[in-house]
Amino acid sequence: MGTIQLSGIGRTFKSTAAVRDIYLTIEDGEFVVLLGPSGCGKTTLLRMIAGLLEPTTGRILLDGVDITELPSKKRDLAMVFQSYALYPHLSVRKNLAFPLKVQHLGKDEIERRVQDVADSLEIGHLLDRKPKELSGGQRQRVAVGRALVRNPKAFLMDEPLSNLDAKLRTQTRHELTALHRRLGATFVYVTHDQVEAMTMATKIVVLNAGAIEQFGSPEEVYDCPESVFVAGFLGSPAMNLLEAQVIGREGIVSLSGTGLAGDLWPGDTDDLDVVVGIRPEHLEIAALSDEHDGILLDGTVEIVENLGGEQILTFSTGRSRIHMRTSRDVRVSVGEQLTLRAAAEHVHLFDRASGRRLEWVAETAADAVGAARESAEPTAEPAAAASLTSRSEPLLTA
Ligand SMILES: Nc1ncnc2c1ncn2[C@@H]1O[C@H](COP(=O)(O)OP(=O)(O)O)[C@@H](O)[C@H]1O
Ligand SMILES: [Mg+2]
Repeated sequence: MGTIQLSGIGRTFKSTAAVRDIYLTIEDGEFVVLLGPSGCGKTTLLRMIAGLLEPTTGRILLDGVDITELPSKKRDLAMVFQSYALYPHLSVRKNLAFPLKVQHLGKDEIERRVQDVADSLEIGHLLDRKPKELSGGQRQRVAVGRALVRNPKAFLMDEPLSNLDAKLRTQTRHELTALHRRLGATFVYVTHDQVEAMTMATKIVVLNAGAIEQFGSPEEVYDCPESVFVAGFLGSPAMNLLEAQVIGREGIVSLSGTGLAGDLWPGDTDDLDVVVGIRPEHLEIAALSDEHDGILLDGTVEIVENLGGEQILTFSTGRSRIHMRTSRDVRVSVGEQLTLRAAAEHVHLFDRASGRRLEWVAETAADAVGAARESAEPTAEPAAAASLTSRSEPLLTA
């Protein structure tokens, strides 16, 4: 078992708060990725879990037991560092055996466990070499092996792939995913690389300035970003983010902005300043589309990038640039003026002041009635009246 609970964890260095007030439960067997830009507090948080750094506030629990005061060695957690942190003067065999010697295990037991781990990571032939006689990828495996040999409750990894070249990185990514499946152990993995996060994680924690922006599965974080920050951080090219206004006229909720307009859905709303988010893969050229509803954007083609299997088009529109990901069959030339379209269901809205996601939900009172009716007769239509709200507080009532 390896359930890690963080309850109000924070760390301040002199006057700067590196990590603030984090509440998070990492369930046993999850592969949780701490994702965020450089300096957002990932390493600081991981080091506190590992017991290498004392939190300024909060408690850490491992399987329900408070380990906040427990020294690192006694935590039953294994850490893999970016720098590998191998002992240069010891052979691979002795590097792997080291954590077990510290635990005073018997010689035969140590020999057996080292051999098992060496076999499972395919480093058996390297056991008598010194770290300096290994490639980067091999060193990285030894570092993982040294964590593995202890059979810990959880593995903590801080950017373990960042010193590897692109090809080896992809390969090692697959190996770590397979290792996680095989062991079923808890992994807490720090990276600033969104591809690593999307491909390896069962849950992603997006961190910004020491605080959690969003915690969810890769799909949730990508498909339903909770904030402008998350929307702009994930995706390559990132989500297009444009300032606009939500307006309600004659029972239709619409969007209006520089070079951007269209109807979203039936309903009423007060006017509201928003940031509109549209993923590059959700844009199409309006003239080529059979659909005519949704949001339309005017743009001039600035750049056409051929990626082989697809292309990225960059448009200038209003004061912004927008990206569109499309098939190479779509032929456009630089300088061409086009109208782009996105379906209403693919439009993300964020409150411009708070940066938080807005959801279109049935209006509270009507909804309560509607919900009550719905539970009585499951076929009942949801109430028509609705309003835009952020998850935490209602912003509008119609
Ligand atoms: N030992 C330290 N002393 C002072 N400031 C630190 C220390 N460690 C980290 N910080 C600061 O805390 C913030 C978070 O750092 P870190 O956890 O290393 O970020 P990340 O791993 O996400 O890049 C940064 O602003 C960094 O400068
Ligand atoms: Mg770091």
